[in-house]
Amino acid sequence: MRTQVAIIGAGPAGLLLAHLLHRGGVDAVVIETRSQEYVAARIRAGILESSSVDLLESVGLGERLRAEGHEHRGIYLQLPGERHHLDFVDLAGRSVWVYGQTEVQKDLVAAGTAQVFYEASQVELHSLQDRPYVTFTDSSGAAQRLDADVIAGCDGSFGPSRAAATPGERYERVYPYSWLGILADVAPSTDELIYAWHPGGFALHSMRSETVSRLYLQVPNGTDPADWPDDRIWAELATRLGHGQDGWKLTPGPVTDKSVLPMRSYVQTPMRRGRLFLAGDAAHIVPPTGAKGLNLAVADVALLSRALVALLIDGDARLADSYSDDALRRVWRCTHFSWWMTTMLHASGDPFDAQLQLSQLRWVTSSEAGATGLAENYAGLPIGF
Ligand code: FAD
Ligand code: DHB
Repeated sequence: MRTQVAIIGAGPAGLLLAHLLHRGGVDAVVIETRSQEYVAARIRAGILESSSVDLLESVGLGERLRAEGHEHRGIYLQLPGERHHLDFVDLAGRSVWVYGQTEVQKDLVAAGTAQVFYEASQVELHSLQDRPYVTFTDSSGAAQRLDADVIAGCDGSFGPSRAAATPGERYERVYPYSWLGILADVAPSTDELIYAWHPGGFALHSMRSETVSRLYLQVPNGTDPADWPDDRIWAELATRLGHGQDGWKLTPGPVTDKSVLPMRSYVQTPMRRGRLFLAGDAAHIVPPTGAKGLNLAVADVALLSRALVALLIDGDARLADSYSDDALRRVWRCTHFSWWMTTMLHASGDPFDAQLQLSQLRWVTSSEAGATGLAENYAGLPIGF
């Protein structure tokens, strides 16, 4: 088999890249180890920044997002006894959208622009400097070889592309806490997301729709979800989110999903080795606090698709040659923002840290300059930043 771009991974980075290349007249084939159903059902990101929404809309993927997604003007930042609204539209001229990654994934599948081999195994990358090709076993057990001009590694943090792209620099920070996340069949108790600092640990009230809430609690690394029965989770959320303060109430409901997520920052440079280009989580991981992971994946493939169309249709290598540097500018901005939000909001157990966090939160919630910095970063910088 031959194609122009062999894409490893059918997550949002891989499927969106295939869609953008298709629109640009470039052939692509996607290879994915999981089933289509598994990929579509994975509960992950929930917030799209405005540049991601604009991009999806500009390539025909905005219809359901606009109809069923929810536009939020900003977020609430909470300290004990104080809840402050930051209005991103007033502060930075941009909003964000609540629209689950599961929905983005469904829209990409429905677009039908990607040819995908699901349930592949033994996926291996070869000959990256010259005539690259990928070997794999397809879902029927047949051995396959896919020759390509370029390979796009969109296979997340555990796929083979990241390892194949070394040697390079790796930057990593592991955080001493995790998130316990739940999905619950209950109407959100808030109109916009609440990010709450609390001496007992961070809590976040997010949502997926008018009837589905998504909530997170800071927990120690190594926490077993079995130690957190639903009642304990709702009681802790109520404490940290301030149930009863100024008449605000957290309404509990049936929990339909529960998981623990470790948190780390990771950046691998360069995002290219020979004819292999990395995009999304394959190249970088951010802790979830700034809601940047999916948005970074979208921004990477927006840059990469332009670069590959120029390379493979026009024979112009300039954007491909600058792809890694261009993408990394934004990656580092989002890496800093995610680290900053994470370290500002999570309890470290050190009283000095706690005082610095409270001071920073008071500044961000009372100074227009402070609030604008957060708003610009959260609502998202332009794709070309
Ligand atoms: P992935 O979604 O990981 O896709 C990679 C694909 O490659 C997968 O389908 C995988 O099965 C496949 N693969 C792996 N190995 C192989 C192989 N050997 N061969 C072929 N295919 C392979 N981000 C936000 O922006 N906002 C949020 O609110 C947010 N919340 C999050 C909440 C949670 C609970 C989690 C876990 C993440 C969250 N993120 C958020 C991060 C976001 O989900 C990821 O950054 C995003 O999924 C990255 O997309 P990707 O396509 O690069 O990688
Ligand atoms: C969600 C996840 C995040 O990491 C975040 O900062 C905001 C929302 C969510 O899953 O809804």
